[in-house]
Amino acid sequence: MSDFLTIKKRTHYCGDLNASHIGGEVVLMGWAHRRRDHGGVVFVDMRDREGLVQVVFNPEINASCHQEAQRIRSEYVLAVKGLVRRRPEGMENPDLRTGEIEVLADDLEILNEAKTPPFVLDGVAEISENVRLKYRYLDLRRPELQKNLILRSRIAAATRDYLHREGFIEVETPFLTKSTPEGARDYLVPSRVNQGMFYALPQSPQIFKQLLMISGFDRYFQIVKCFRDEDLRADRQPEFTQIDVEMSFLTEQEIIRIMEGMIAHLFKECLDRKLPLPFPQISYREAMSRFGKDNPDIRFGLELRDLTDILKGSGFKLFAEIAEGGGVIEAICIEDGKRLSRKDLDELKDYVAQYGAGGLAWARVSPDGWTSPIFKFLNQGEVAAINEKMEAREGDVILFVADSPKVVCDALGNLRIHLAKKLNLIDPGAMAFTWVTEFPLFEFSDTEKRFVSTHHPFTSPVLDELPLIETDPGKVHARAYDLVLNGSEIGGGSIRIHQKNVQAMIFRALGLSDEEARSKFGFLLDALEYGTPPHGGIAFGLDRLIMLMTGSESIRDVIAFPKTQKAICMLTDAPSQVSVEQLMELSLKIVT
Ligand code: AMO
Ligand code: AMP
Repeated sequence: MSDFLTIKKRTHYCGDLNASHIGGEVVLMGWAHRRRDHGGVVFVDMRDREGLVQVVFNPEINASCHQEAQRIRSEYVLAVKGLVRRRPEGMENPDLRTGEIEVLADDLEILNEAKTPPFVLDGVAEISENVRLKYRYLDLRRPELQKNLILRSRIAAATRDYLHREGFIEVETPFLTKSTPEGARDYLVPSRVNQGMFYALPQSPQIFKQLLMISGFDRYFQIVKCFRDEDLRADRQPEFTQIDVEMSFLTEQEIIRIMEGMIAHLFKECLDRKLPLPFPQISYREAMSRFGKDNPDIRFGLELRDLTDILKGSGFKLFAEIAEGGGVIEAICIEDGKRLSRKDLDELKDYVAQYGAGGLAWARVSPDGWTSPIFKFLNQGEVAAINEKMEAREGDVILFVADSPKVVCDALGNLRIHLAKKLNLIDPGAMAFTWVTEFPLFEFSDTEKRFVSTHHPFTSPVLDELPLIETDPGKVHARAYDLVLNGSEIGGGSIRIHQKNVQAMIFRALGLSDEEARSKFGFLLDALEYGTPPHGGIAFGLDRLIMLMTGSESIRDVIAFPKTQKAICMLTDAPSQVSVEQLMELSLKIVT
């Protein structure tokens, strides 16, 4: 075996060396990032997880070692012994943490060779992401991804520290289990021993954590994988990790305090950033009316204003008719509107069309009225009232959408974000948190033609509103709260139902017959009868949180081995076909 591994042993990480090591002998192990030959001297940038250091092979120091160094190619695995010295004057590299020094090698062993990688590890911008994912183990050698995963590990550790200190107990819950409804499709696992039967992978540990409250653990947490078969986006993966938490005998506000304390702890410990507490709270209703979304991005203004009252009787027939039919007219106001050309305004019309808006009216505010296709339909009083409501000043542009409340919120809520990005209104360093509270308990699903839970069916309704569940379910509020960071939902939770009759009532309101409720959740209904404490909790999307903490573009950049938008693992080629024998064992047959 190599002398380096048995006797000489590594003394330092490459990236940790600095001027304080000058004059000392070090042993390094790592990868050849780059090799350059200069006037008989070989320079190798050697890399490990902590960073790069320049290693110099000089034939006058050790001729055979210098000769061996000429064999080095990118990504060869090296062991090097040498002396740390200050770089010659003028050769320092201020961009490199180790840029003041270099290592003058007097011993080298090539521990392993490497094929030429399919892409260079510097500047991967031009490489398709699928190639990077296929060779993920190489992609993960890149410092940015290493940094993300190292931070991820520290965040998980800081989470555990905080929660243990607050008296939480980490308990593991099963992966082979029964469906837990969180609004996505289940991943199913066929049982061989119980032919024709299936487990579902958990969409969350929701029911188990409630059962742990019934068992008396009082404060539970788990950093846990969840599985959801849903359409993927930049901030979603089919398997992702939650920081899952549940507590007994506390109110919403107490849970919120403990949890924002945890988030502040993570930011302080891992990013050395102090977050002001408490985080603001806004009601669902206010979030929808000001931002058009229940995950509002509060880093910038461009808030929606409702102009229905002003425009419902106006001479612009289209708006008047929409208002008459129960629709609304809302608008946003952009300061210094000349930043938007006529062509931009036309493009914005196409932009809102994807959210179902039939059009986008605009008005440029000037001292003697508006320049606008709808100016001629409005009287002076209406124009003045709109200017006042929009707080519009000369030079501003007002953008209007008239439609059903849902389409207007969707169109303007997204347009506001689109414009903020386009006009650079977002402070890239901002971390804007807000809790969203007072959600409706149910939403009406047009596809299923019934009420569905806004969160999940175990969420407690506001108790005073219980009688409405049977008469007017759309009006009932949930004791739920979401945490939103920069317009991304990073966590959601609620006070739960702890009484069997209330839970049964909710299942009925969701259209489940008593038999269905029994067969799906009988074990929970039974458990609720054996002394269930009032309880509540929350789960944070750990991947999303880390994505925002690291400023990454995609959730894939903070997950070691992520899947593509089509839920494929490019590295292993999962999912893949299985043998006929395996299917037979499970009594399964592929029919398409
Ligand atoms: P919820 O479904 O809101 O709540 O999930 C909690 C948080 O998990 C993150 N998340 C995801 N992250 C990545 N990919 C996904 N596919 C994905 N889906 C969700 C989000 C979300 O806020 N059991 C409840 C929590 C509770 O009530 O305690 C639950 O799972 O950041
Ligand atoms: P028209 O008279 O049809 O040219 O419409 C006048 C303006 O109203 C145009 O700028 C349209 O884009 C705009 N418009 C049409 N439908 C809507 C709508 N649903 N909401 C907002 N503006 C609309």
